[in-house]
Amino acid sequence: MADALKIGVAGLGTVGAALVRILQQRSNALTLACGRAIVVKAVSARDKAKDRGIDISGMQWFSDPVDMAENADIDVFVELVGGSEGTADLSVRAALGRGLHVVTANKALLARCGVELAKLAEEKGLLLNYEAAVAGGIPVIKTLRESLTGNNFSRIYGIMNGTCNYILTKMEKEGLSFADCLKEAQRLGYAEADPAFDIEGNDTAHKLSILTTLAFGSEIAADKIYLEGITNISIEDIHAAADLGYRIKLLGVAQKTDSGIEQRVHPTMVPLDSVIAQVDGVTNAVALESDILGELLMVGPGAGGNATASAVLGDITDIAKSRPGAQDVPVLGRPAHLLEPYRQAEMQSHEGGYFIRLTVQDRTGVFASIATKMAENNISLESIVQHSKQPMVAGKPQTIILVTHATMEIAVRKAVDAIKHEGYLVGEPQMIRIERPKS
Ligand code: NDP
Ligand code: HSE
Repeated sequence: MADALKIGVAGLGTVGAALVRILQQRSNALTLACGRAIVVKAVSARDKAKDRGIDISGMQWFSDPVDMAENADIDVFVELVGGSEGTADLSVRAALGRGLHVVTANKALLARCGVELAKLAEEKGLLLNYEAAVAGGIPVIKTLRESLTGNNFSRIYGIMNGTCNYILTKMEKEGLSFADCLKEAQRLGYAEADPAFDIEGNDTAHKLSILTTLAFGSEIAADKIYLEGITNISIEDIHAAADLGYRIKLLGVAQKTDSGIEQRVHPTMVPLDSVIAQVDGVTNAVALESDILGELLMVGPGAGGNATASAVLGDITDIAKSRPGAQDVPVLGRPAHLLEPYRQAEMQSHEGGYFIRLTVQDRTGVFASIATKMAENNISLESIVQHSKQPMVAGKPQTIILVTHATMEIAVRKAVDAIKHEGYLVGEPQMIRIERPKS
């Protein structure tokens, strides 16, 4: 039998502690599957005294992951610290610099400097695996990188943040407040260390940027993504969407257009009878649309210790099974130096349906004025309704909801601006894009 694969785990939080526990509990089965043992030789976290529910006796302790990357007697450095800069970045670079394979779940790091890290790994013939970085336990990286080679992708989209989907689901189904749902997601270990990354959409953008590179062969361009989080979604929007036959999900979408690749993250209305509308709680879903395969929809747990550790474990076992020194699959689907520059499609040119919620003063002629502004911008309306769960009270502001047929983003923005100038709006208009899944 080959020598044991020696790993060092940096970060013993939600994911790291789950990983060490599973490696200990499943060691016999893993040895059989890989033809060699996998041994945790070293671990690193900030607080050595913290009870993590795992036995770390016999493992070398490092309070600095960089020190571990530079000095531990290991073959693989597993980075589960998090953060796009600082310790995570320095330790991964140190590990690659020293000739260690790297496994990471850190999408923020990859979104910022994944191409550079991929080049470093490829120059040295090392593996840099990151299955857990996108959609938790769903094996979407392996699918794109290995199983669907040769496909031309037209659109990839999905629910890629468990925390946001958990919040939207709980708000709708249990009537809980946004703040309470977020607190619960944090307690369950789904949220990022700074949950603003979840609810403001950055985490989805990080993941989308990685998928875009794998699907379209262009350099990672997380900073070019149109971004809206879920903090402005009210229970009123959720109910209005349901009344119209839609559900609101935070989607990441990357789509090939004539003018480039459109990348966007925003709350999205999807038809209630679509599969993705049924994806609830921490579950994620990623749809891949391509010319040879057609549509593939992958659904599974998107966050949490065990689900994420499962993906990290898959990456480690891939290394355990690989030939020594072999780097068989390019980190980002093609050699990093051959990735194309990202050609950005402008958001203004986005074409799709829109839900628009306006709160207006109760005045004669408002309905007609709104319809006129839409028509002046060549926007065709699927519906325009006065919407209220409460009895109408004369003189009190009223809610008007419009749903458009497919139109250009620029036209909708111009129409809404024109409506704003009419002086009857109360507060800011709400605008939510509609996406039509294939299934
Ligand atoms: P946690 O916050 O639960 O754990 C982070 C760990 O890193 C802790 O053990 C902490 O030590 C350690 N750490 C943080 N900073 C330092 C430092 N400067 N030096 C040494 N150790 C440090 O994070 P998660 O386990 O949730 O996430 C880890 C990574 O996995 C992140 O990149 C995250 O985005 C990613 N991820 C997380 C998922 C999830 O569901 N949680 C899902 C998919 C990916 P200590 O415990 O002593 O404080
Ligand atoms: N905070 C992330 C989420 C963790 O909620 O999806 C998984 O990447």
